[in-house]
Order: sequence, then C-alpha cells, then structure tokens
Amino acid sequence: MAPQDTKPNSLNSYWLPFTANRAFKKRPRILKAAEGLYFTSDDNRKILDGSSGLFCVNAGHGRRPIVEAIKAAAETLDFAPPFQYAQPGAFELAERLALLAPGDLDHVLLANSGSEAVDTALKVALSFHRAKGDGQRTRFIGRTRGYHGVGFGGISVGGMVANRKAYGNMLGGVDHLATTYNREKQAFSVGEPEWGGHLADELGDLIALHGAETIAAVIVEPTAGSTGCLPPPKGYLERLRAITEQHGILLIFDEVITGFGRLGYAFAAERYGIVPDMITFAKGVTNGSVPMSGVMIRSGIHDAHMSGPEHVPEMFHGYTYSGHPLATAAALATLELYAEEDLFARSGQKEAMFADAMMSLREAPNVVDIRPIGMMCGIDLRPQDDGIGKRGYRAIEESFHNQDLYVRVTADTLIIAPPLIAEESDIGKVRDRIDRVLTAVA
Ligand SMILES: Cc1ncc(COP(=O)(O)O)c(C=O)c1O
Repeated sequence: MAPQDTKPNSLNSYWLPFTANRAFKKRPRILKAAEGLYFTSDDNRKILDGSSGLFCVNAGHGRRPIVEAIKAAAETLDFAPPFQYAQPGAFELAERLALLAPGDLDHVLLANSGSEAVDTALKVALSFHRAKGDGQRTRFIGRTRGYHGVGFGGISVGGMVANRKAYGNMLGGVDHLATTYNREKQAFSVGEPEWGGHLADELGDLIALHGAETIAAVIVEPTAGSTGCLPPPKGYLERLRAITEQHGILLIFDEVITGFGRLGYAFAAERYGIVPDMITFAKGVTNGSVPMSGVMIRSGIHDAHMSGPEHVPEMFHGYTYSGHPLATAAALATLELYAEEDLFARSGQKEAMFADAMMSLREAPNVVDIRPIGMMCGIDLRPQDDGIGKRGYRAIEESFHNQDLYVRVTADTLIIAPPLIAEESDIGKVRDRIDRVLTAVA
C-alpha cells in the first residue's frame, strides 16, 4: 500500500468554529492540557482560565472524580441505544436533575449541545400545544442580543445578526423582544440594573400584534451570556412570567450558561423565584468534560404528551447520543462534586468580591461599561476607529501570547467567568492580567 500523504503538522484542514481562521493560523493559540484553573499551552506556559473554558468548567479542570467516572463508564458500557432501550445512568441523572430544578420541572429530555437543547425545547413547546388542541400556537418570541446556539431554531429565536444573516429565512413566525441593555441608562450597574424592568411589557405589544393564540413560547436567557453578559433589569423576568402565564404562552429559560452555579444557584430561575415551563441546560452539567445537554420540562407539559396508542413514541424526537453512558457518568460525578463542595452557594458568596474586582477596572483604558453578575462579567471596550472587533481581537492575542490569560472575547467585549472554585487571589490575578491586556491594547 502506498504511504498516505499525511501532513501532521499542518493547520490547513481543520476549519475552526466561530474563529477568524486566517488570523488564527498565522499566530495559533493551542491549548494542550488543563488542570485546576490553568490550561497548558503548546509551548508549556500555564494559561489562567478566566472564562471557565466556554462557561462550562465550573469546578475547574481535570477533576479526578469526573475523570474516573468517565473511564469506568467507557470500560463498562461504551454505548447503549437510547431509542426503545436505555441505560441506568440516564434515569439516575434525570432524577438528580429533577431534584435540583425548581417547582415541577420534573422531566428531562437529554441531548448533546446547547443548540440541540434549544431546538428540543422549541419542538416540545409546539408538540405540547398541538397535544392540547392548540396547534395554531406556532410562533416563538426571542430577544435581540439573545444567543440560543446555532441550530436553525436557535438562530431564529436568537438575536445576533452575524449569526443569522448568511442563512436565509430560518423559522417562520418568529418575533423578538428588544434587548434589555441600554448603556445610557445602565452603564456600570452591578448585578440586575435598576432601569429596564418595564421592557417586559413589550411582550404585551407583541401579543396584541400577533394574538396570544398564535404564540407557543417565549425564550430568553435569564442573563444573556454570549452577547456580553447582560443581566436582567430588576423585575423584568418576573413580569415576563406573569404575562406568559396570563396568556397560556410557555416561558423557556435558556440556562446553558447560567445553570449550575454561575449565578449562585443550581439554576438562575431560583435566584428570581420563578418557575419557567422549561429550562435548557448544557455546559456545566458535565463540567465541560463530555458533551451533554438537556431540557427540564414541567409535569403538565410532559403529561400532555402521554396519550395515544401505548406502543407509539409520544414524541418523534431524539439523538443517537441522547443520554450517552459516558456523558451521564460524567454528569452524575459532576453533580456529586458540586454538592460535596457546595459550589453553587460558594459561588454566590463570592459575588460581591468578584464584582468589586471587576469594577476596579473602570479606569482602565477604553472601558465603556462593566457588568458583573454572579461569577460572570462583561467588559465593553471602545471599538477602534478602524473597525469593530479589532481591539477585541488584539485583546485575545495579547492575553494569550503575553499575559498568560485566556478570556472569552466577542467583538470588543470581554466576558470573564472564572471557574467557581476560584478564590480571591485567583480572581485578583485574572483582574490584574486583564488590566495589563487593556493597557497593551489601548
Ligand atoms: C444560552 C446559550 N444557549 C445555547 C448555547 C449553544 O450551546 P452549544 O454551543 O453547546 O450548542 C449557548 C452557548 O454558548 C448558550 O450560551
């Protein structure tokens, strides 16, 4: 056989997701290992993880109980078909999640990514209304500057123009609430801003425009994460809940980032004393170790599906890897670890200290807003005159190459979200390195 033409050191074939590929390949940033709060770069530098990977490694990297659970699962059951069969870990995990979630969010559909969880939740909303004889409820209401992943459902209800504009018409019948963010009214607010609760009343306008009887669900992130950490104004989410309830519209909280301790609770819904109709989760459920996501679903929605001939699936939906044994093992070990370390409450206890550290960057060059909430914070930088995102990209390069820091940057906004195990001294290091980055990109 002729030897294969392999090019092991070429960066050519891999097309990186959500990445400026040409710029990246000129000056790559490669992470080859991770432990605790640090990655190791390919040139053996310790890179401080300022954003928990992508908001998923809540308990820090390389946690042994999770690693051991994954190894044991791989040795015992590599795969079990999730359609018409199941493996024990899926039931155990679902029970654990139902105990963690508020109210009667007692049923769980499992998937593999936040995007899949969102599309699953949208489909459950449609099939629920149909099962009730309300099949005309097909509209979804999302929000400008919402991020719900990259499936066609998710980009349709999402509100990030760059993620939508190349992809045609998407889902029909979708409308959007305005973003709750207004820099003039809210700049440098700590936690939930005072201004903006009234924006929830826009939902009333959309209901008047479309008719409540056409609307299936409203989907929002309790705090918009990927678009720069936009905390909800005081009273906003409560008002959305009241209006949706009044009109028979489902309320979906997308907690892919806010779930599992980021805002000091298992789910942000608890922070606001709200029981949404569904909660999507992903990321932190396995501490980022194995892809997994899912949807928590209220009993009434689940029960409405349990009709028809018993030999027929109640919902024609699912993924080959729903409830994969490695993922459920990782999730069970993760939830155990979170409970043992009381990580959600500990995260809440650090909120004020973290906010102080972030707000102390206020005088750094080009900072136009800082928005801390829980253990997450958006820092907006003034864009350079020669283009949006250029200063942000310089910040990515400066962080990695010169300051040994990883931080998530979207356009000209830094999103800081350290692992929830970070102590005051670690957060101080993140803060000081960001300070140096901001000086360098001034
Ligand atoms: C709120 C929210 N929903 C959905 C997603 C999509 O998740 P995934 O990238 O796993 O598909 C994300 C990802 O960041 C998210 O933040």
